[in-house]
Amino acid sequence: MTPGVPLRGKVTPPGDKSISHRAIIFGALAEGRTEVDNLLEGEDVLRTIDAFRAMKVEIQQRGLGRWSIDGVGLEGLTESEDVLDLGNSGTAMRLLTGLLATQPFMSIVNGDASLRRRPMGRVVEPLRRMGARILGRDHGRLAPLVIHGGQELLPIDYQCPVVSAQVKSAILLAGINTPGVTSVTESAQTRDHTERMLAAFGGEVERNGLTVSVGCWPALKAQTMRIPGDFSAAAFPLVACLLTPGSELRIVNVGVNPTRIGLLDMLIAMGGQIERSDERLMGGEPVADLTVHYSPLRGITVPREWVPLAIDELPIFSVAAALAEGETILEGAEELRVKESDRIAAMTAGLTRLGANVEERADGMRIAGRPQGLAGGVTVDSWTDHRVAMSLLVAGLACKNPVTVTRCDNIATSFPGFVALMQKLGASLGEGFGPSAG
Ligand code: S3P
Repeated sequence: MTPGVPLRGKVTPPGDKSISHRAIIFGALAEGRTEVDNLLEGEDVLRTIDAFRAMKVEIQQRGLGRWSIDGVGLEGLTESEDVLDLGNSGTAMRLLTGLLATQPFMSIVNGDASLRRRPMGRVVEPLRRMGARILGRDHGRLAPLVIHGGQELLPIDYQCPVVSAQVKSAILLAGINTPGVTSVTESAQTRDHTERMLAAFGGEVERNGLTVSVGCWPALKAQTMRIPGDFSAAAFPLVACLLTPGSELRIVNVGVNPTRIGLLDMLIAMGGQIERSDERLMGGEPVADLTVHYSPLRGITVPREWVPLAIDELPIFSVAAALAEGETILEGAEELRVKESDRIAAMTAGLTRLGANVEERADGMRIAGRPQGLAGGVTVDSWTDHRVAMSLLVAGLACKNPVTVTRCDNIATSFPGFVALMQKLGASLGEGFGPSAG
């Protein structure tokens, strides 16, 4: 990325990754044909599609972003002939582990080197308490996991020790195939797409404060739905716009589910000019348009309760903080250490190399902003993490000298059109820019 060019235009973010995974999962478990529009065709969602195809669910692409899923019902999946390779996707692995624990057959789930390092004990342990038989490396804490289905599980009333929508969703997915009522209580609200989509498909879901309960064997009915734009993808051009003088963007059809948009509150608290308009519902999920203008930002202390609502946006948030006036403190974000990479370490290393003043902490970062811009002129590494790669490319915008980011292939896991979109908005980004790009 080379610095300084104002970004202008309209952004239509790709379909939401979390909601796309769930559309495939619930479409496969429903009765009848589910039609989905604006599905994210990123690597992670394609792995979920491949996994259900391997379990004999018919899933077809009908056009760009348009897919149909011929649901087989809650008890209609078939044992896969091969290992289910879930690539880089923690969501696919954790949600499928919950679902597959209740099936009358054996499954093996595996993933890439990053996914094989990520903690799976957080889903295996509560599922074992329900009676599931799951084996894995390190006593079931690491993939590959072998899930021996075939026994009826017992419902659980689970107090979740980690703040994680993936863990909550894994247990709820086990719960819909378990007699009785299964409940999960969170210590802080996490994204609620599973609950919303299960309700839209006709499932029984109840929320009582931070407790969510599901009933067993609901007859799920196929749906026709359009997936909202992914706020987590929109976050990159949004922050790039705030940081680049002269920029103005309109981001349309973006999901604004309150459990996802902690970053908006943070950026507005920092002085970001962001207006929301035309709020409406799309398939049970709120969407809106956002208008964003370049704004000088001020550092903030992030309220801890905002952290889970912005968990995937904290890498790009750290870029905004590195260029704000004054100090930013982020605490209570230790979950970042077990994402696709250790995002606290990766962003501290990358931003420091670009010239930012960042202190790494066990559960977050302290950042002394440099609003006059970062030096750049160096090569930084993405740690093969899609969100670190995009964050560092956006940071390159605000550097005085061109920046090269290495190992960016994984951007395709969540935002395959990122480079093309940024180029369309005017950014000098892509292969061939910068001192040592290529
Ligand atoms: C996701 C939940 C979050 C998030 C991930 C997607 C989901 O993970 O980081 O990108 O779709 O449920 P955790 O629930 O583990 O925090």
